[in-house]
Amino acid sequence: MAALVLALAVGSMAAMEPARAVEPAATIVLVAYDSETGNTEALGRALAEGVASVEGVESVLRRISAVTDEEILRADGILVGTPVIWGSLSAGAKGFLDRVGRVLDEEIHGEGRTAGAFCTGGAPAAGKELARLAILAAFLNMRFTVIGGLELDGFGSLGAGATTGPSDPGLSTAELETARRSGERFARITAQIRRSPGA
Ligand SMILES: Cc1cc2nc3c(=O)[nH]c(=O)nc-3n(C[C@H](O)[C@H](O)[C@H](O)COP(=O)(O)O)c2cc1C
Repeated sequence: MAALVLALAVGSMAAMEPARAVEPAATIVLVAYDSETGNTEALGRALAEGVASVEGVESVLRRISAVTDEEILRADGILVGTPVIWGSLSAGAKGFLDRVGRVLDEEIHGEGRTAGAFCTGGAPAAGKELARLAILAAFLNMRFTVIGGLELDGFGSLGAGATTGPSDPGLSTAELETARRSGERFARITAQIRRSPGA
């Protein structure tokens, strides 16, 4: 009897509590990069800053070798970065794309998820477009929705990029700002897609 009275009391207290809004889960964007000498890592960090600037979006910045299967499964969007190696993406970045395909095999691949690419290359025009296109092609084949980058002049691009060779060493302020804006756009569109009915 005492237990029944207690149960009734607890029940009526719960009924008196004001309804609390359920916090929507954060949209998660994984920024995964391959990098030998730190350039692509620095560009990835700028992208991740742009991603994290969008309310309700969490960015996870990881070297490709450190990404867990769980992080791939939890990601609503994935940005993959590579150094240009002999005119294309690195073997590490290619291996990571193959792994994403394997991990998402049971999950209708990338359906409902977004993807993008970024890269750094020593020369102004010796493979950066090809490297990013190779990444985007893999994601399209896995049924991801592919999102490009944003140039400072307002045009779109295949994704953030930077030239790092002797004629234009390191990452310029403009290249880093382009990456931040591209990350912000990627996160905003990913969150919109995630919120859309049926996604
Ligand atoms: C083996 C090798 C091949 C490369 N091939 C190219 C190339 O074809 N085109 C290019 O623009 N840069 C090329 N690079 C330069 C790198 O893409 C560039 O230094 C890049 O910023 C390195 O990125 P990381 O610092 O993230 O490793 C090559 C570098 C190496 C080590």
